[in-house]
Amino acid sequence: MRVLVLTGAGVSAESGIPTFRGKDGYWRNFDPAKLATPEAFARDPQLIWDWYRERRERIRNARPNAAHEAIARLAQHSKDFLLVTQNVDDLHTRAGVPAQKMVQIHGNIFITRCSQCDWRAERLSTASNEEEEQDDGLAKCPHCTALMRPGVVWFGEQLPWNELEQVENFLNNGACDVVIVAGTTATFGYIIDWAIRGSRDAGELIEVNPEETQLTRFATRLVRKPAATALPQIVEDLINRSAL
Ligand code: OAD
Repeated sequence: MRVLVLTGAGVSAESGIPTFRGKDGYWRNFDPAKLATPEAFARDPQLIWDWYRERRERIRNARPNAAHEAIARLAQHSKDFLLVTQNVDDLHTRAGVPAQKMVQIHGNIFITRCSQCDWRAERLSTASNEEEEQDDGLAKCPHCTALMRPGVVWFGEQLPWNELEQVENFLNNGACDVVIVAGTTATFGYIIDWAIRGSRDAGELIEVNPEETQLTRFATRLVRKPAATALPQIVEDLINRSAL
């Protein structure tokens, strides 16, 4: 069975991590342009770091939920599998999705990287906030002295090249039997594009989301339930089916 899974913030919602566009979502209280752009960082790096440290801390205190666990089970079961997540948290990894079967297309919040050159460091998600304050403060790059920044993709920035290539290679290697899109508004065209390309040649395209999205009209099956409720059953059925 060839499987592509695309996830967004809704998959981590039941672990207590706010979504972006939901009713308690980050973008309801903050203007993305004030926090998630290179210009915002240049204007007030301390404010941006404060926001990302707070988010790191929330993620450290969160645990993977049944949706992350179900996806990890499917990843371990399927030989030909790719998870493309827009989430910058590490909950898919902690649930057990192998690194080589996963792409974090919007980056990783636990990476601190130089805002100018290629220097980067991965903060362990177990590091304490105090350690971070000391380490990062408004840290400067040891190579070029530019400010260090969080390793996430901001509005107006390119998607990371290596990750894009991994997705393209997977899609070019053949159509999928099943594509699951869970917990995302599919705001970005590339998410819709990958879902459609993945499910070409009559593959199933399952959307897991309590609400309608821009992807809905392309889906072959709609599951209007929270991810942690829906995904364990979907995965169980797929594994049973592939064993027949
Ligand atoms: P959004 O906040 O746009 O969407 C979250 C989606 O999850 C919505 O469609 C909700 O209906 C759905 N949802 C909420 N709770 C759910 C649950 N328990 N189970 C399943 N679905 C649920 O988040 P994303 O689509 O991930 O980008 O946002 C995409 C990108 O926009 C993010 O990666 C971030 C943001 O700007 C960057 O930071 C670059």
